Amino acid sequence: MSVIQVICLLFVLVSHGIEGSDHGQRTQRSLYTSKGQPYRTAYHFQPPKNWMNDPNGPMYYKGVYHLFYQYNPYSAVWGNITWGHSISYDLINWVHLDIALNPTDPFDINGCWSGSATILPDQKPAILYTGRDTENRQVQNLAVPKNLSDPFLREWSKTPHNPLMAPTNDIDPDFFRDPTTAWLGPDKIWRVLVGAQIDGKGMAILYKSKDFVKWNRTKNPLHSSTKTKMWECPDFYPINGKDQVEDQFKTKYVLKASFHDQDHYIVGKYEPETDTYEIESDFLDDGSDLRYDFGKFYASKTFYDSEKKRRILWGWVAESDSEADDKNKGWSGLQSIPRSIVLGKSGRQLVQWPVKEVERLRSKEVFDLRNKEVKRRSVFEITGVTASQADVEVTFDVGGLEKAELFDPSWVDPQLLCDQKNASVRGKIGPFGLLVLASKELTEQTAIFFRIFESSDKYVVLMCSDQSRSSLRGGLKKTAYGAFVDLDPNKEKITLRSLIDHSIVESFGGEGRSCITARVYPKLAIDKEAHLYAFNYGSKSVKILKLNAWSMKSAQIVPMKRRRRPIYGREE
Ligand code: FRU
Repeated sequence: MSVIQVICLLFVLVSHGIEGSDHGQRTQRSLYTSKGQPYRTAYHFQPPKNWMNDPNGPMYYKGVYHLFYQYNPYSAVWGNITWGHSISYDLINWVHLDIALNPTDPFDINGCWSGSATILPDQKPAILYTGRDTENRQVQNLAVPKNLSDPFLREWSKTPHNPLMAPTNDIDPDFFRDPTTAWLGPDKIWRVLVGAQIDGKGMAILYKSKDFVKWNRTKNPLHSSTKTKMWECPDFYPINGKDQVEDQFKTKYVLKASFHDQDHYIVGKYEPETDTYEIESDFLDDGSDLRYDFGKFYASKTFYDSEKKRRILWGWVAESDSEADDKNKGWSGLQSIPRSIVLGKSGRQLVQWPVKEVERLRSKEVFDLRNKEVKRRSVFEITGVTASQADVEVTFDVGGLEKAELFDPSWVDPQLLCDQKNASVRGKIGPFGLLVLASKELTEQTAIFFRIFESSDKYVVLMCSDQSRSSLRGGLKKTAYGAFVDLDPNKEKITLRSLIDHSIVESFGGEGRSCITARVYPKLAIDKEAHLYAFNYGSKSVKILKLNAWSMKSAQIVPMKRRRRPIYGREE
């Protein structure tokens, strides 16, 4: 950072104030805690009102995290899409700025759709995004900051060369969008992927450029699949078991594609000389695919946090109530808590964990339990915690596994299995886990639990997030989501972490090997009426080795203009 930039940054911070306390914590909720807003979250990212979908162009630039997002400034339903823009020093507390990209030009007049940020040499950020042009074609455009010395990069200019990539004859103009972050090959040529569907096949088309302005499509897509339709929001990045990737082309690469309302990924080796991607397994879309999250989580995007040397994942968590409910609430859509993401020990799957920074919202620990036997068919309450706004971590020991139910090899889709064997279906080893956002009498409860089965050569661990009894309200989607957890219960303990925030529950099983995010809209279990329990409905007792639960403080997530307090979370 130059001296001038440091002075500018200090000036902005001083004029807006700098603060390191949690005074701002009530700000977000206080705007909305009036009756009728029980589902507004307290520490998940959301704009003050209206519709939000995909996270766009997340980046870390000169001390500041930027998050852009698909935003309708006029209503709580999708439409008039712009790029909302917020900044943060810690990924948890945010300040909303003015809209960064509005549909103003022939190449994006019908909407500024999803895209990504790339930091070009000499520390110049660039955004590639999809515009819907005057003919409603999807084209790819470039925008750069108007003023690089503004530490918040508030204003963006669209280059006169736009559109940089337009659909050719074989590309359906309705299926050509969502450019990735670009990467530079050893040949100093830029590459970028664009999601598409050609001849009914989902694919990531590859473009190359020497100058970031003139882009040429390569003969073959990087990858395609006959098993899927349109790939939205592709993402492609190097990954290994550690946070930092030293030599990007020597490690594995993840390709993520969003289709069928889910984010699927595959792992492989990328060869930059030939731009080939040798995969270890492919997309099948039959319920057995690897997924970031087996619940509500879509159109996600990662970015590399050069400050903390880690890759961070954001995902859009949509509502699962009705459009009429969203209009009444005046808003729709959340972003997940940002997650750090690495390749797991097996080398086959990713492991995710909420960024460390969220732990700063934990109030003093209020519940700490060790070595408690949870008898067969029993429930106990975890007391003293604000159950509607909490972080819970628990480790189970299931002991001997001789009593496990037999696993039927035809059970390929874990969601179908959780639907069939929801929390009310008694088992042998399990179901055991947590009941969150539960009413006192348990007439409302979201059960996040495990069940262990025995197959011919191994034990199978199933994790479910069962919303079937989550609310007495009608008109809601009450899915029982499911995931298999890649762990051997003979050798490892089973862990669960759930982040609970009024209408969202993000759960991480097996230390982040399987994640399930759910939206929940209780009628009774609201604010102080929400309770938290641990349970075991199996016929064998299980042991809780450790259970910690914290009430969570609210994050400060506020518009710059309405912000009464200084910017929170600045670290010196
Ligand atoms: C994914 C998506 C993207 C598109 C954007 C429009 O949710 O459909 O493919 O660019 O949303 O808002």
